[in-house]
Amino acid sequence: MCGIVGYIGNRDAKPVLMEGLKKLEYRGYDSAGVAILSTDTINIVKSKGRLGVLEEKLCNVDIEGTMGIGHTRWATHGEPSDLNSHPHVSKNGKIAIVHNGIIENYIQIKDFLSEKGYCFSSETDTEVIAHLIEYNYEGNLVKAVLKTLNELEGAYALGVLSVDNPDMFVAAKKDSPLIVGLGENENFIASDIPAILPYTREVLILEDKEVACISGGKVEIYNLLGERQRREIFHVDWDVCASEKNGFEHFMIKEIFEEPSAVKATISPRIRGREIVLDNFTITDEMIKNCEKIHIIACGTAYHAGVVGKYAIEKLARIPAEAEVASEFRYRDPIVNEKHLTIVISQSGETIDTLMAMREAKRKGSRTLAIVNVVGSSIAREADDVLYTWAGPEIAVASTKAYNTQLSALYLAALSFARRKGLLDEKEYNSYINQLQQMPEMISSILGEREKIQKFASEHFNAKSIFYIGRGLDFALSMEGSLKLKEISYIHSEAYAGGELKHGTIALIEEGTLVVCSLTQEQLFEKMIGNIREVKARGAVVLAVAHEKNTEKVAKIADSVISIPDTDSILAPIAAITPMQLFAYYVAVIKGNDVDKPRNLAKSVTVE
Ligand code: F6R
Repeated sequence: MCGIVGYIGNRDAKPVLMEGLKKLEYRGYDSAGVAILSTDTINIVKSKGRLGVLEEKLCNVDIEGTMGIGHTRWATHGEPSDLNSHPHVSKNGKIAIVHNGIIENYIQIKDFLSEKGYCFSSETDTEVIAHLIEYNYEGNLVKAVLKTLNELEGAYALGVLSVDNPDMFVAAKKDSPLIVGLGENENFIASDIPAILPYTREVLILEDKEVACISGGKVEIYNLLGERQRREIFHVDWDVCASEKNGFEHFMIKEIFEEPSAVKATISPRIRGREIVLDNFTITDEMIKNCEKIHIIACGTAYHAGVVGKYAIEKLARIPAEAEVASEFRYRDPIVNEKHLTIVISQSGETIDTLMAMREAKRKGSRTLAIVNVVGSSIAREADDVLYTWAGPEIAVASTKAYNTQLSALYLAALSFARRKGLLDEKEYNSYINQLQQMPEMISSILGEREKIQKFASEHFNAKSIFYIGRGLDFALSMEGSLKLKEISYIHSEAYAGGELKHGTIALIEEGTLVVCSLTQEQLFEKMIGNIREVKARGAVVLAVAHEKNTEKVAKIADSVISIPDTDSILAPIAAITPMQLFAYYVAVIKGNDVDKPRNLAKSVTVE
């Protein structure tokens, strides 16, 4: 949610900032801007619209400077417009800032500053920070920022530069991500690692309520009391190509094609011999045996993975489990205690709702286990135990490979808990392990069906509304299939439990309505066939996702069937989601939508 970059060194700052912003555009793309310091002036160029608009504007102005900050925005306060775009400047024009997050007490600060004669030209919460830093400035920028941050409530990642301090700029963070990239006589800040990878792999991860003073030659980190903080350097070892499209038309399709390798990377290193080894887990057998309840908390796609996790944990490990969206969990005073385990799931590891919900669970005494993709992210750092999903960077706003890997991690955890509780016999356990190991191949074989799915998409891209139905784990799967479609195709869609449709929503099914039906749950197969007949009787067109062994039978009533390799029902969602992702992708492509940057969305939601 909003991307920030900053640079100081010997290079021309403009291309460094623009290249960095391109890598961060997935975080927000309704406006963008840069501030570059040239001698004693801050040059600001900003614009509503995608980065391309800013790039064009920059071509027409002559700005030189070796220090600057940049921003790509996802609007929260004030519509996307030139005026509301960042950077924002202070009254005297000497201080410029970029901000990601929301300042909750900005109205009070605005009133205070208005009384002191400050005027505001934007509707943003951010502008108050620029003015307040100016108000607090007494010749030392770091001190002015520290004083200002102590007066702010809310979340921020900030880049601040000032005319009076041409050899340094300041960065700060609380509840929004920010890293510092360390180069040779040059340094960087960014909301995410890909923005700095062309220049350096050495990174400092800022903690909450920290301020960094960044010059070309050094970086000093302080807490909000102004005390120096030590920080280990984190070396980024992933491939730069991982954040490039590599010949694919979109990141989304590239990432769907990476699912077999991502799932393999998540599963393989954790199965040693026949045993599941969960990294450096500190959860003991005793804790698992005594665990009274598991809360699974996440948002969006990660929440949908959590719903699958709930079914899997209850079925395999026989521990009561609830999956809940983080923004609800946090504010309902949930019943949580030290005999509970809280699993949080997040691709980015920075989603503020999930982070806050995790803190709430911790505060109430629960142990926390994070299933996270981004190494060193806030959620990963704060959880008691972490199970990384080794999916590599996920750039497309619509999450795909992260979901399959989150499921893989959840199954590993569920099987490990079951094994440690002595609930699975050797034969059953070995069969699950074998099937998990075969998942990458199964997904690859589904990818081989893409043309059939593409053809189906070309016949249905004009649909006004599409329903997804399934029972048990297929209902959880349907929720994710439906979300994927909504996000990128802008077609209205709803997921329903197969048995629930007739209790009202079936009224919406009419001649030609497309219903995507999942039938991967063996014990519910006949029930789903019944549900398919119900919608067919009302004129629905049915696309079914079914195991190979059932394809013939399903083909007799469905209009089209996508076969997935046979597997145990409980593990089916890992591979069964892939055809639904492909369907959503092709529909969006045929409609001519911006697949990787769908309207109104942004990746990594760091505002509540
Ligand atoms: C959907 C999507 C979002 C995220 C959600 C949580 O395609 O990307 O629904 O899944 O915002 O994000 P993370 O997993 O980063 O916490």
